[in-house]
Amino acid sequence: MIIGHISDIHWLDIEGSHFRDFLNKRISGGINLLAGRAKKHSKATMRCALDTLKTLNCDHLIVTGDLSNLALPGELRAVKKELNNVFRDEEMTIVPGNHDYYTRESLKNRRFEKLIYTSSPGNLDVGLSQTWPFVNIVQDVAIIGLNSAQPRPWFVAAGKLGNRQLHDLESVLHHPEVSCRTKIIALHHHIFQVVMTPGESLRNLEDRNELLRICQENGVAMIVHGHNHDFTQKRVGDLIVSEAGSCSVCTFKRDNRAGKFNLYRIDAGQIKKIETWRFENDQFKLWQSKDLSEIV
Ligand SMILES: [Fe+2]
Ligand SMILES: [Fe+2]
Repeated sequence: MIIGHISDIHWLDIEGSHFRDFLNKRISGGINLLAGRAKKHSKATMRCALDTLKTLNCDHLIVTGDLSNLALPGELRAVKKELNNVFRDEEMTIVPGNHDYYTRESLKNRRFEKLIYTSSPGNLDVGLSQTWPFVNIVQDVAIIGLNSAQPRPWFVAAGKLGNRQLHDLESVLHHPEVSCRTKIIALHHHIFQVVMTPGESLRNLEDRNELLRICQENGVAMIVHGHNHDFTQKRVGDLIVSEAGSCSVCTFKRDNRAGKFNLYRIDAGQIKKIETWRFENDQFKLWQSKDLSEIV
């Protein structure tokens, strides 16, 4: 089985938006866009990633957040349509990023839930009233979706799962349909510090240590995430942590910042290989392929 992993699409679409939509945190987001993000992320590159994944016979696609730029209704509708042009709802696990809850208004209106989860986000009923955690069973694998995104003040992109979600995650991991399978957790925020800057606390996952403890105590095979727009793979004991980068980046200065997606090759419930495909000369090419034993 092949599971694809894309992240950080940052689809921009202000068509149909009103001036009042920008009288909030989106002003800083708008400045950010003018500063270069709009040029860096390309819709054609994202479409190329999806088409390549389909050509590679990807059975299921994980999307780890930041689908939109400003959590505008037009952005979320358009990016969902693009995903559905290639993958059906039941072939995808999608979790939100900080840009998908850019304002308190987008959270209040449950815009991400309404426009992205047009059908149920997970196919296994785990008996919870909240949306997260949810579980998608894909053959021998249980993919657990978490929400680390919350609206934050200007210039803050940090994430948090919170005690309630972490508690429910532990329960879900004990569910008989989950505990017997290979467990993969999908969320947006990164677990390990990549960029050593004083501002890291403004963009990391506050309760990452608690998440790591739960994963290690309950035999989670892999955590997949996005947010950094970088490329990292790390092992903590038996647990693999894998970041996909951004699948829509078309111009970059450092190799690690190029448009990328990951492929996880799984055989009889065992993750055998992690491949990273990189955007180069208008197409995605295999850049790196690793056995799990090569990840440190
Ligand atoms: Fe992002
Ligand atoms: Fe992000």
